[in-house]
Amino acid sequence: MSSLPSQLTERVQALTGIDPEMRPATKPQFGHFQSNVALRLAKTEGKPPREVAAAIVEQLQVDDLCEPLEIAGPGFINFRIKADVLAATASELLGDEHDGVVQAGEPQRVVIDYSAPNAAKQMHVGHLRSTIIGDCFNRVLSAQGHTVIAQNHIGDWGRQFGMLVEQTLDEGLDPAELDLAGAERLYMRANAHLKSDEAFADRSRERVVKLQAGDPETLAIWEKLIEISKAGFERTYERMNVLLKPADYAGESMYNAMLPKVCDDLEARGIAKVDDGALVVFVDGYEAPAIMRNRQGGYGYDVTDVAALRYRVGELDADRLVYVVGSEQTHHFNLIFGVCRKAGYLPEQVRAQHVGYGMVLGTDGKKFSTREGTAVHLDDLLDEADQHAAPNIALAAIKYADLSSGLQKDYTFDAERMTATTGDTGPYLQYAHARISQIMRKAEAEQVEVPQAITVLEEPAEQQLALLLSRFGEVVAEVGESLQPHKLCGYLYELAGAYSSFYEQCPVMKSEGEVRASRLALCQATRKVLAKGLYLLGIDAPERM
Ligand code: ARG
Repeated sequence: MSSLPSQLTERVQALTGIDPEMRPATKPQFGHFQSNVALRLAKTEGKPPREVAAAIVEQLQVDDLCEPLEIAGPGFINFRIKADVLAATASELLGDEHDGVVQAGEPQRVVIDYSAPNAAKQMHVGHLRSTIIGDCFNRVLSAQGHTVIAQNHIGDWGRQFGMLVEQTLDEGLDPAELDLAGAERLYMRANAHLKSDEAFADRSRERVVKLQAGDPETLAIWEKLIEISKAGFERTYERMNVLLKPADYAGESMYNAMLPKVCDDLEARGIAKVDDGALVVFVDGYEAPAIMRNRQGGYGYDVTDVAALRYRVGELDADRLVYVVGSEQTHHFNLIFGVCRKAGYLPEQVRAQHVGYGMVLGTDGKKFSTREGTAVHLDDLLDEADQHAAPNIALAAIKYADLSSGLQKDYTFDAERMTATTGDTGPYLQYAHARISQIMRKAEAEQVEVPQAITVLEEPAEQQLALLLSRFGEVVAEVGESLQPHKLCGYLYELAGAYSSFYEQCPVMKSEGEVRASRLALCQATRKVLAKGLYLLGIDAPERM
């Protein structure tokens, strides 16, 4: 069911033909919402606004939801939702097994491509953002009843493995004894070696050919390097408390065997053509083509994504594809989507979306980096936040900072500000949840029953809180559609604020009888929504803080 404000909006719009632009009333005596619809209509109709307002009030059928409407000032219409309607709406939450999350009418199969770090390298800040944002989408879409298929497109194939395997052999290393940090150091040594030694560079190139041909010795070393990389990633995922599982790995190597077939298919149907020795696909509106096979006969990032998309639609049966990858790859994905539309791999009814995101900046306003000026690893960030707060709070701080402003914006990593329990932060929301939990504990200790219904809603602060609770389902639905988590963050922040005002103005345990029972039920409903909202952001909702 849609929220009370939306129901009102729909009815006024049906009558007047324009969006009533319902605004929250600025003072309790103006009711809950105000609309200037009559003022705007009066202008086009050339009639006195109050007269237009009176005609609307006369014809509008809202007495099931509202107290008698009032006309204020030059012609505003004031809406006051009936207390029993508000109470009933908020009460529904208490018994709802989905905690107010509206279930999708047509559940879809949604593939989300996120995290996607590269083997033999530690995750960096960009992968942190992708992991957190993708995790939130996974949670939101799953809660709506969609089937989410996470695909962790790790970089586990490609030319870099030639030099990695060659360096391993040169050094006589047993790769099974490395950890991810050790593999990263190996990577750096191999890279330096490659630049200074022509013969090594040649051997590395030959090694790539061996890898692609399935040479057992080469494959065995490659496999070990992937294994230790995954073990390292998993430790980070565990630390981050995200839903990604080992079964979600679907790295670049998985598509390797499909690439020749994809190229043949594209070429046979005239979608790809040979241009200067390479097999390419041109897409209208893009100057440079997507490269399916280079002049040396090698396959790269573009064609792998074409094969992956084809697999996701063809084999995984996706209705919607979401890619959470940094904004610098926007062009790449648009080009790939163009190729796949053209090839028929991406049918019209399947939605494909690239969700980009901005950079993480240091407090100096520059791209976040270590004191040595190198890229920051995700673990460094977690360590830094951990210095300011307990791990679950530090994590809440990072996740909330990542999700609460528009994704495209760069954000500043300011550990001290992010971990504060005041202001628009994750810990503040956790704290609000803990405070409500404390009241519920008190009620339990005093053996006060918490009823399954909110029955009394006299005070404006109670009514505001109930009104806000009724909007939760709509907010989550909107995040599932627009993939903009900051809308959920903003809503929860507002809810925590409304709860604070309620708490200041309406004693709970100190009141009595039905009022106390009803207020406890309202606290309980608020706690449910806060906990669910935090869960959807991937943030833990502590009972105590
Ligand atoms: N491994 C890539 C990187 O670190 C991201 C892969 C994103 N997903 C994809 N299907 N291309 O930049």
